[in-house]
Amino acid sequence: MVGITARDRLRLLAGASGLLFGACGGSGSSSSSEFIIGGTPPTTQPSQPVTGLTSGLLRDTFRNNFLIGTASNNVQLANDDLSASIALDQFNSITPEWELKADLISPSEGVYNFDDADRVVDWAIANGMEVRGHALLWHEATPAWMLEGTPSQIRTKLESYIQTVMTHFQGRITVWDVCNECISTDVYNGSNGIGPDRRTPWFDAVGSGEYMEWAFLAARAADPNALLFMSDYNTENPIKRGYMVEILQRFSANNIPIDGFGHQFHLYLNTDSSEAMSSIDAVDNQFMGLVQHVTEMDMTVYNDPGSCWESETNCDPDLGETPPADILAQQAQLYRDMFNGLIMKSSVESVSFWGVRDGDSWLNFAPTERFNHPLLFDRNGDPKPAFHAITDQAYII
Ligand code: GLA
Repeated sequence: MVGITARDRLRLLAGASGLLFGACGGSGSSSSSEFIIGGTPPTTQPSQPVTGLTSGLLRDTFRNNFLIGTASNNVQLANDDLSASIALDQFNSITPEWELKADLISPSEGVYNFDDADRVVDWAIANGMEVRGHALLWHEATPAWMLEGTPSQIRTKLESYIQTVMTHFQGRITVWDVCNECISTDVYNGSNGIGPDRRTPWFDAVGSGEYMEWAFLAARAADPNALLFMSDYNTENPIKRGYMVEILQRFSANNIPIDGFGHQFHLYLNTDSSEAMSSIDAVDNQFMGLVQHVTEMDMTVYNDPGSCWESETNCDPDLGETPPADILAQQAQLYRDMFNGLIMKSSVESVSFWGVRDGDSWLNFAPTERFNHPLLFDRNGDPKPAFHAITDQAYII
């Protein structure tokens, strides 16, 4: 990988802002010390005034359907950020945004830093929320040491990492994304020669997609009570859906233990919600018993061409801090369509957003730096039309 990615930029920015407030710390120079903030996170009620909304309105709206989650991070907790307060007030599941990624937990072989992850996990649990463990294996967050050596050495390192991490969180984290974004991204022509497997650095180091199976087997052995998920983006795309089904079929044929599938659902204003629902159905129809989660939902207000993602060229122009009302209305309608579909799917047990307020989102930096407005709450923490559209069917969009 060359240079710094938009995701890295977001992470670094958040880390830097945390350091401004940082009281303690991490005197070491490991990469995760940037995120060690110290201090005691809020453990009971939101300490900031939250929007005037009925407390719990969002989670209560879907209490008979699924958990409603969001990504939160230790910088927000340490700063007593309004997003953390809204998370407590409206959500009932938390995904630590980056604290559980392998490059932060174990930057070098044999070294494990759990402090930041513990802080977010314990905060969520103390507040009665579920925690999604994200993610044991993700190529964008794999420390270099893990991919060094022969395939069998790599397998041993992966098993030892998974064993150590899952044992540490046993009983606190009961749902894990085991493999994140391992499925082929080739949604244009479907013929890049590796079938449903993504050509990740893992694939290259191991020589096949078998590393996914190793990860699931190790995870089941490490904590037989945890629910094991594969999670991926673009599953609403019919070609990607096909790859997803192929991998699940292969798992089934090889008796690989998997309990659920996570659809990230990073959506666009022109996403067809019925395609997203077809992907839920595809899992239901062929793999009865698999639980399904929506793991990272958001909705960019831009419809960039592929070149924007590849080389930051021809990106849509910045809409600024206050997006046009018609865009917010379009977004509200698609969110409503998505939720009206999701509540009909009994296998869907959890729906998580990737952040609380628009200003929190990675989409302000990816694929290019620009104001984006992908979430349910605006930068001030006020609920957007999308929030009203999903919590109140009488709300006129
Ligand atoms: C992917 C990852 C998440 C997060 C987002 C946005 O979807 O799964 O952990 O990093 O990208 O950055």
